[in-house]
Amino acid sequence: MKRDGACTSLWQNNQPDYQPTNSYDANKTYDVVIAGGGITGITTALLLQKAGKSCLVAEAHNLCFGTTGGTTAHLNTFLDANYDKIRSDFGEHGTQLVGRATRQALDLFKQHIREYNIDCGYEEKDGFLYSTNEKQTEHLQKIFEASQQAGVAVAYTDQIPVPIEFESAIVYSGQAQIHPSRYVYALAKAFEAAGGVIMQECLVENVDGKEVLDIDTNRGQLKTRNLIYATHIPPGVNLLHFRCAPYRSYAMAVTLKDGNYPNGLAYDMYDPYHYYRTQEVDGVRYLIAGGEDHKTAHESNTEACFMRLESYLRKYYNIDKIAFRWSSQYFEPSDGLAYIGHLPGNPENVFVATGFGGNGITYSHIAAITLTDLIVDGTSPYGHLFAPGRVKPVAGFTNFVKEAADVVVQFFGKRFGQSDIQEIADLAPGEARVVKYDGDSIALYKDEKGKLYAVNPVCPHAKCMVGWNSAEKSWDCPCHGSRFSAEGELLTGPARRGLEQVDIIKEE
Ligand code: FES
Repeated sequence: MKRDGACTSLWQNNQPDYQPTNSYDANKTYDVVIAGGGITGITTALLLQKAGKSCLVAEAHNLCFGTTGGTTAHLNTFLDANYDKIRSDFGEHGTQLVGRATRQALDLFKQHIREYNIDCGYEEKDGFLYSTNEKQTEHLQKIFEASQQAGVAVAYTDQIPVPIEFESAIVYSGQAQIHPSRYVYALAKAFEAAGGVIMQECLVENVDGKEVLDIDTNRGQLKTRNLIYATHIPPGVNLLHFRCAPYRSYAMAVTLKDGNYPNGLAYDMYDPYHYYRTQEVDGVRYLIAGGEDHKTAHESNTEACFMRLESYLRKYYNIDKIAFRWSSQYFEPSDGLAYIGHLPGNPENVFVATGFGGNGITYSHIAAITLTDLIVDGTSPYGHLFAPGRVKPVAGFTNFVKEAADVVVQFFGKRFGQSDIQEIADLAPGEARVVKYDGDSIALYKDEKGKLYAVNPVCPHAKCMVGWNSAEKSWDCPCHGSRFSAEGELLTGPARRGLEQVDIIKEE
């Protein structure tokens, strides 16, 4: 199974590419096309198909290619936006709705696992949130009170499952964990068994129309009455790009010498915070830990994030082997809650689910439940709370749209000799750099074998300059999180196309 970076996640290991069985009908008008074959897209597709809608999932790469393949798969009744913050921004009713939505999401996981007999390492665990100083302890008290108001099961505890000194701790019961790609593959099979269609390597390129939408893809045209963008962030140009900031998070799956694996999910209260859990995969137990988050493309040495995470873990754990290490992206919503519902600026039948923060797995099922209700019944108990329409227009949006409409073509017809650009010779294998030549910027990467890749560093989404992510060997855009391979191929949107290739001739 491929994913959107050079590092291998635990969830890719021993996981072949998904092989769809049903084929699509070019003459059919589907009830719902879902762009994106991660956990949100596949779960939503399954619920809608079971509700009698004819659905097609169009995935630009392969199932779980994006953040589903890079998550650490915590299922929680609490969110990164803690209940104290939610209470102050969305009131008591909003807090209770979030509590109810998270519980319903976790129940849906359980229901699927039972109904489809899914072997995905599902385990229910307690989730511990602990403070390590006075300020955090005061905040923890507020979170505890707001969590109780939200109606979620929470209590104070004097024990935590990680060997870290703490001041105070609360425990949320009934949390859970899964192997995400095995879970998604099982749901995809159930979706196909119910008559749904999955198209992989199928990029949605353009959408036109109103009641019936015409969708151009690289695999042909599709027709649908409804479209859902379950692509992590919607492609193209949208107000939500101003309201969702892209972040990277770093994770490791390690084996321990002394078998001191945490029995539970644990989180400290730093910003960014560290998180821990244990998962057994194919007979091997792993401690999965993560943290060191930063804004996408705001860290010039992403390898150093892994090093910091490793040295932090070694302080508390007797590590035998670092079996897997990987990073992944998430989008932080500006007011703390996800955006699920009608996509502003589009016809009424175009929907989105984005801004999940670090709670993508839990939100995937909240989104599936909410979007299914909105499409089948026209209303959802959570519709108002998560409505993307709560976003107010921002200054500069019109210019942003105008700017973004331009296609970035700077190097068409131009060729450079390797000797023209001095920095090429200076570039060590495995190194990347953005250099200036003749007034133009060129992004260069030399792979370990000395092969040179040259692309235009101007992001085709809205013309920000991409930065090199040395850990995942990708060009990442700091503005709205588009990511590209070393060759410039589009990995994840909102850009709809890759970076422009620059022609550099190798001289003998
Ligand atoms: Fe918007 Fe790059 S993602 S400019």
